Amino acid sequence: MANHISIRHKLNNFNKKIKVSADKSISIRAVLLASQAVGISKISNLLESEDVLNSLKTIRKLGINYTKHRNVYNIHGFGLNGFNIKKNTVLNAGNSGTLARLILGLLVKSKSQVKLIGDKSLSKRDFYRVIKPLRLFGVNIDSKNNNLPIKILGTDFLRPISYKENIGSAQVKTCIILSALNTPGITQIYSKSSRNHTELMLKSLGYPIKIEKKSGYEKIFIQGLRQFNCFEYKVPGDISSASFFIVLTLLSKNSEMIIENVNINRSRIGIIYILNKMGAKIILKNKKKYNGEEISDIHIKSIKNLRAINCPSRLNSSAIDEFLIIFLVAAKAKGISKFRDLGEMNKKESKRLDLAVKFLKLIGVKVERFKNNLNIHGNPDLLLSNSYEMKNFLKDHRIFFLCCITALTLGGNWKINDKDSINTSFPEFLKILKKLGAKLN
Ligand code: S3P
Repeated sequence: MANHISIRHKLNNFNKKIKVSADKSISIRAVLLASQAVGISKISNLLESEDVLNSLKTIRKLGINYTKHRNVYNIHGFGLNGFNIKKNTVLNAGNSGTLARLILGLLVKSKSQVKLIGDKSLSKRDFYRVIKPLRLFGVNIDSKNNNLPIKILGTDFLRPISYKENIGSAQVKTCIILSALNTPGITQIYSKSSRNHTELMLKSLGYPIKIEKKSGYEKIFIQGLRQFNCFEYKVPGDISSASFFIVLTLLSKNSEMIIENVNINRSRIGIIYILNKMGAKIILKNKKKYNGEEISDIHIKSIKNLRAINCPSRLNSSAIDEFLIIFLVAAKAKGISKFRDLGEMNKKESKRLDLAVKFLKLIGVKVERFKNNLNIHGNPDLLLSNSYEMKNFLKDHRIFFLCCITALTLGGNWKINDKDSINTSFPEFLKILKKLGAKLN
């Protein structure tokens, strides 16, 4: 079967209520923390995407069983470091940087060496960011050029560390938090603000973790070696998946949408601040608290007069996965939008900053790049009528989504490759588009 889709028609005039797939970051964390809990955790509405299925396969290889009954995964944990690791174990994290970096944090006490591998995209990504703190804990790590494959062998002589995390990476912060669970004493992290789902989950489980907020930073203290009980968790919708439908609605004519039950944790909704500053009127309704997280429905309407933004870089971490689609809005806004310090985008599933420039040029948008800063010259009348094809994007799911939303809002005759990349994070993506009336071949 062909692994591409063709889009030749824009999508306008819809008024729909939708639900997007469950949150990927929370799903992976729920699986990994359940593997360390005592007893059977029950996780409902878990995202069934490749990254999360690889997380489930990973814990099963480490001796943790799970079953699925209706919409609920039952994960049988044996407490901290309750893995049963066979000799020559090889774990495959597939495309998932989150799984790969987080699982290393749970292997700090492993008695046998474990080899961690990943797909072509993951094998190009930097692991020094986690290797460095893991070595400070006392863990043995072997890796060529700080890439996968990595061989990790735990130790019984773990020592707590005090670490400054300057990238603003939740994956690095969480790897250290998970390592701290198995380490005696108190581990301290001074971390540039980033998504905080792990901290909120541990807090809701009664785990001794303390967080002091500084401006743009957090100081986190984790007491090691405290067992925690199994738990129940219902995973909410993913704002990163919702963001493509938010922009679809904004840029389509005469359209409205409600996206139900989305996680709107402050550390994740940079896109909503940014788009509202550009003139969108995105409203969060029906807010509720859930295990420290905040969940709401998102109401969006089409908008004509979007204006450029001078985007403050303090929002970078809270919109890091959404910039690709934000750039599309900037391309349709009046004026020159400015974005700064986006080097981390090039450390994702593909070199997203490089590809964003290539993509904007492909659709005829003037873009200037100075190192990791972009100026995007917007044009509210931008419409496409030629043929377009995006190539060589390492099957990056978010680039695939970006091309689809561009085709449906700006027009043109599109061939979009690597359709199966949607399975990484948002398997329902094309089904929802079809429900809205999109013509996809
Ligand atoms: C994630 C953190 C972010 C994000 C990724 C998911 C997480 O990466 O880009 O898609 O679940 O912790 P970094 O922490 O490396 O910025």
